[in-house]
Amino acid sequence: MTDSKAFSLGSNVSGLGQKGLDHNQVIAIDGPAASGKSTAAQRVAVSLNFVHVNSGLFFRTITWWALKNGLSEATDAFLEALGDLDINLERFQSDLNVVVDNVAPGEALHGPTVTEQVSAIAQLPAVRSMVLERLHYASSQFDIVCDGRDIGTTVFRQANLKVYLIADVLERARRRLAEGKHDMSEESLKREQARLNARDRADTSRVHSPLRKAKDAIEIDTTRMNLDEVVEVILSLARERKLG
Ligand code: C5P
Repeated sequence: MTDSKAFSLGSNVSGLGQKGLDHNQVIAIDGPAASGKSTAAQRVAVSLNFVHVNSGLFFRTITWWALKNGLSEATDAFLEALGDLDINLERFQSDLNVVVDNVAPGEALHGPTVTEQVSAIAQLPAVRSMVLERLHYASSQFDIVCDGRDIGTTVFRQANLKVYLIADVLERARRRLAEGKHDMSEESLKREQARLNARDRADTSRVHSPLRKAKDAIEIDTTRMNLDEVVEVILSLARERKLG
């Protein structure tokens, strides 16, 4: 892993970055759960030689850390511990991995427990501002493709390109199950659709930075598209804007 590089984005970082807070080029990709944002963002980043920043990973990591430490998001103890939380980002090729307390939680971040709890944690203003600060820091260091829920509306309002990916919930459930090599029975698909709908409801109805399409975002319905097609559309939009 010769090109793996760790740098601290912990709460003690204040001056922020060699280049200050200027933003480099930013492509923002938002959309509901399992709309394919992350995979598309990763591929776009590789093509343009940008860094992929999956903002959901921050919220998942904080959720994982809270669960591991028995902290409930509704308590002062949670907020106090959050203030001391040291999160490092580790660059590996075109991605940034999140490391907390020197541990990279890896696959646990996508397990059912974290996925069920993450929207409750993500609605907290203290959590959101912590993540926002780190995303701004990442963009002060690299040209980035950042995916999430509020990237075009809140985190990078001045992004050079904003894309909003959508897909029918049944198709999203299919993709999610295929990803985890789960069975595709009608029952499983129904359960997965219910989970995705619940998370989208929580993410669109929260007070702070809810999931919304930015006014200047370009919506792409990927229901009948494959990944290559989605990536190509985003890359052609990036080329139109002379990005990369
Ligand atoms: O993208 P992913 O499904 O990994 O995101 C997990 C959760 O993190 C979302 O359901 C949402 O609650 C939260 N999130 C957010 N804002 C973002 C990215 C993710 O609130 N920009």
